[in-house]
Parts: sequence; structure tokens; C-alpha cells
Amino acid sequence: MLKQKFPACIFVLSWLLLWLLQLFIAHKPPPYPLLLSIPPSYINPPLSKTLSPSQQSQTPSSSSSFSFSVSCFKKMGISGNVSCLVLLVGLALSSLIVGSYAGNFYQDFDLTWGGHRPKIFKGGQLLSLSLDKVSGSGFQSKKEYLFGRIDMQLKLVAGNSAGTVTAYYLSSQGPAHDEIDFEFLGNVSGDPYVLHTNIFTQGKGNREQQFYLWFDPSKNFHTYSIIWKPQHIIFLVDNTPIRVFKNAESLGVPFPKNQAMRIYSSLWNADDWATRGGLVKTDWSKAPFTAYYRNFNVIDAKSSKSFSDSQPSWQTNALDAPSRRRLRWVQKYFMIYNYCTDLKRFPRGFPAECRN
Ligand SMILES: *[C@@H]1O[C@H](CO)[C@@H](O)[C@H](O)[C@H]1NC(C)=O
Ligand SMILES: *[C@@H]1O[C@H](CO)[C@@H](O)[C@H](O)[C@H]1NC(C)=O
Repeated sequence: MLKQKFPACIFVLSWLLLWLLQLFIAHKPPPYPLLLSIPPSYINPPLSKTLSPSQQSQTPSSSSSFSFSVSCFKKMGISGNVSCLVLLVGLALSSLIVGSYAGNFYQDFDLTWGGHRPKIFKGGQLLSLSLDKVSGSGFQSKKEYLFGRIDMQLKLVAGNSAGTVTAYYLSSQGPAHDEIDFEFLGNVSGDPYVLHTNIFTQGKGNREQQFYLWFDPSKNFHTYSIIWKPQHIIFLVDNTPIRVFKNAESLGVPFPKNQAMRIYSSLWNADDWATRGGLVKTDWSKAPFTAYYRNFNVIDAKSSKSFSDSQPSWQTNALDAPSRRRLRWVQKYFMIYNYCTDLKRFPRGFPAECRN
């Protein structure tokens, strides 16, 4: 029994070590928590097949550490050894704590409006915005970015959030500004939030796409990310791409690439339009409304070589095959509005980038 547990624990430890190495040496924390960075085949070995020793030796040895770890998981899965499971969970949790040191709200953000309403807690690890009848609130990043990957975890206003909007976006300053928007439109308890996205280039927006989410965004924290490269902009939710905006300068569409942007977020009342087009008003008896932020992380293109030195395949194809499949899944089942298919709005033909 000890023989079985031992290699499994070594595997888990080396996996943690690799994860930490990536964090400290590459200055590039994995964009998702440790547990999710294991390929699914590690987590879900085919338990239905009970492996005999001869079958186990048949596992391809080309990638020795891979087959080693798979067999570890198979052994553990089949024997269901509780103590090893406890160890796994413990290590996963500790890695999440390590991961949360990626950003600090005191260092990286200014609370910009709403008086006492925006707050930073836990030594800079947690931020909250709130909205009451008098005012909403907001914050912005101290730094500006020109290309990069930006991750933030948000937990949205719970309960009856109808009429409230939580905006989380990148924006440049001044006229002819560029902007990349996530906006979360609240709803009455039990009815779905709408995730509204938009992109402004040179002051012109009108590029809305809206989605339902495949989870309740007010129950737990979820990661909302923007990958901004000269070739494309990708919106991601929990690492699933939901929208890709390709550079269409060759079709005459301006692309945000010359103006640095700051990160902004605000929580405000928009009950004149947000929920069912303004039919449902904010219920002020439920105020204050609060949204939470944590685990801010940036890969700044300026300082991250690995980000700007993307390989040619990544440049021509924004997403790999599994990500393209995920994107199609979201667009098929969760997209509720796409300006590129709104004939009523564009009777004389869709904007040029819709052909891209
Ligand atoms: C798990 O390991 C412990 C400690 O070696 C052992 O006593 C126990 O029987 C194992 N449990 C199972 C289900 O194999
Ligand atoms: C709120 O719920 C209604 C009814 O299910 C739905 O039609 C609407 O899209 C939801 N979201 C918003 C922001 O109105």
C-alpha cells in the first residue's frame, strides 16, 4: 500500500514544484488554478477498466512521466485511498493561496469614486464595490497597458440584482478612445445575468455581443480575461473563449493598437435599460448591492517576452482546435445577441469586420 502511495505523492509534489517554478522563473503564473492545469486524462482515468499488471506495462513509454502519472492516478482512483486524496486537496488549496499573491489591489489600483463604497480587504487580496441609492462606486488601475493578458476574478451582486450593472473594461483616455468591455447586467433572483461585450476603436463602438453564462456568476468567483494582441482581442470566461475580435485593418476597420489602456470597473444603477430593456427597476430595499474582485493578474506584453514572442501558428490562428470548439459551444448555446447577425440594424449590409 505504501509502495502505491509513494510514487503518487512524488508526482503530486513535483507537479506543485513545476507549477511554482513557472510562477517564479517565467514570471508567468499559469492563468488558471493548479488543479485545472492538469489535462483531464490525469483526473479522469478510465476507472471502468481494471488494469492487470501486464496491461499497465503496455502503456506507451514515449512520454515516461506522463504514463507514470497516469498509472499513479489509476492506482489511486481504483483503491480510492482517502489519505492521498486529502493530500491532493490540501496541495491544491495551498497552490490557490500561492496563486492569489499574483496581484495586490493596494499596489495596482486606485479607488476612484463612490466615497466609502469601494473597499480593499485582506491586505490587498480582495476588493469590493457597492451601490446604494445615493451612489455607485468604481476603481481603476494605476498602470496603463498596451497589449497583454488580463485576468480578474469577479463575484457579482447576489440576489435581486435587477437594474444594476457591473462594468469591467479596458479603456484609453481622450477623444477617439479605444475600449474593450465586459458588462454584467443584473436580474431578479433566479433569472440569468446577461454578459454584454463591446469593442470601441477610435471612439466608435456598436459592436455588441451578449451572452448568458453557464453558471450563476453571483454564487462564486469566476475568471474573466482579456487577451489583447496586435492580431486579435479574445474575451474569455473561466478560460473558455466567448468572443474573438480579429484585426481587420486590411478591411478598413481600425484596431486598438496605438493607445495604452487602463483597467476600470464600476458598479452603478442602470435600471432605465439594463434588465429586460428597463422593464425591471432596481429594488432599493435590497441595497447596498455589492460585487467582489480578487486574483488580479496581468501578463504585460512590455515585460513578458513569452507573450510578445508568440509563435507564427498562434498569430495566424487565434485559438487552438479545442478552444475553437469551446467558442462554438458558447456561441451556439449561450449567445443571445450578435450585432453581426442583426439584419434590422444593418439593412444595408453588416460592418466590414463581420466578414472576418
Ligand atoms: C490508504 O492508505 C492507508 C495508509 O497506508 C491504508 O491503511 C488504507 O487501507 C488505504 N486505503 C485504501 C482504500 O486502500
Ligand atoms: C433577465 O431574465 C429575463 C427572463 O428570464 C431574461 O429575458 C433577460 O434576458 C434576463 N437578463 C436581463 C439582463 O434582462
